[in-house]
Amino acid sequence: MTPDEFRQYAHKLVDWMAAYMENVEKYPVKSSVKPGEVFDRIPADPPEKAESFSRFIEDLDEIIMPGITHWQHPGFFAYFPANTSPPSILAEMVTATLGAQCMIWETSPAAAELEERVMLWLRDLVGLPASFEGVIQDTASTATLAAILTAREKATNFSINNNGANNAGTLRVYCSEQGHSSVDKAVRICGIGSQNLVRIPVKSDFSLDEAKLKDAIKSDIKAAYLPCCVIATIGTTGSAAIDPLEAIGEICSEYRTWLHVDAAMAGTALILPEFQWMINGKKYIDSFVFNPHKWMFTNFDCSAYFVKDPESLIKTFEILPEYLKTRTRGKVNDYRDWGVPLGRRFRALKLWSVIRSYGTEGLRTRIRYHISIAARLSELISKEDDFEILAPVVINVVCFRYKPEGLQAEKLNPLNEKLNHILNDSGKIYLTHTVLNGKYTLRMVTGQTNVTLAHVEMAWDLIRQTARSIKK
Ligand SMILES: Cc1ncc(COP(=O)(O)O)c(C=O)c1O
Repeated sequence: MTPDEFRQYAHKLVDWMAAYMENVEKYPVKSSVKPGEVFDRIPADPPEKAESFSRFIEDLDEIIMPGITHWQHPGFFAYFPANTSPPSILAEMVTATLGAQCMIWETSPAAAELEERVMLWLRDLVGLPASFEGVIQDTASTATLAAILTAREKATNFSINNNGANNAGTLRVYCSEQGHSSVDKAVRICGIGSQNLVRIPVKSDFSLDEAKLKDAIKSDIKAAYLPCCVIATIGTTGSAAIDPLEAIGEICSEYRTWLHVDAAMAGTALILPEFQWMINGKKYIDSFVFNPHKWMFTNFDCSAYFVKDPESLIKTFEILPEYLKTRTRGKVNDYRDWGVPLGRRFRALKLWSVIRSYGTEGLRTRIRYHISIAARLSELISKEDDFEILAPVVINVVCFRYKPEGLQAEKLNPLNEKLNHILNDSGKIYLTHTVLNGKYTLRMVTGQTNVTLAHVEMAWDLIRQTARSIKK
């Protein structure tokens, strides 16, 4: 492709992108293709001869778009959002154009230094202590893995990296019953083992029960286990419950256990002074992750990982082959030492673009709005006798179910599951579920970039009508 052809196709694609953003609401939010449908439409063999790029654009519309679930659709209330925004997309285009691989400072000093600066901005924005430093990881799963690996090394005097786990004792990791599955994955990868992840029961608001955590650690110590890391969740995936950080922190401090905070989605709310209470006890935190790629309008992937003591992180991950030795080593941040991958994308650029384009005030306004529409939805649901709210609505997640009068308890789960499928098949809205206290629970997350109160009200009308129509 010549530079002129590139310019021509790029303009065409930018028009395509702008039209998509304008019209995203017209698509069915959840793709309804059948398994194998897209696969079968793609030729079994790659083309032998070069094809015109126009064919690629045609196939984008013909083959790919029907198989896309539209995460930027204002009817997207599922999972947690994976928001993007125009400033994020524009910066991502530059990142792809530069094609820089930013593993060490020398391979793009601007990438390393922008990352350092933007992460300090973000640290201050979310109110973490000024002693913390940050690094961008691909996902919260990777950040939590990095946290548990560092905790493992600290707990064993940095011996497992060298000696393997033999004779290191049996390490234990703790999180609530509602903690994310990335913790299960991390304990497997770290060699700690699934059976040494202790799931602590939750209280009635689905937050970790600190008294039970303390009991678990005490009895583990008695049984000669080595408590190594506690993961507190600020905004659990099921219901956005907030674990009691201060109480957990005191326990971690008493038993010298690493405290990692998983605030993957809800961390963005910390930019609001009125949500700073979620990190009361922040002095106890050793590491903290939240995803600007969830709620903070920065397209996937961009996970902000902060640590109190970068030296321990670097000591855990540092490897120095001959080909990576540089004259600047020790004077600059070489982020390859701050996590699992060597190669790194230039992700700080989109974060910079988003924060500058919205301004911190604009970010706060938008996030407050999302929180306010969740509160409104919760009010609307509470007014109806045949619906019930199943968890406290603190941020942007509303958990509820349909509960028509007179229906036997055992019929409620299948009824709500059926309701969920019918709603999702409608193409108008997309919700996902969880199970709380054995109850099939619909969750509605109001954090999508484009969602407004009008969309939430429309969705609620659809939910009510559909529910009542399938009651029998
Ligand atoms: C609380 C929590 N932690 C971690 C994750 C994993 O995030 P990622 O996809 O960035 O690994 C999620 C995903 O939704 C989450 O809800």
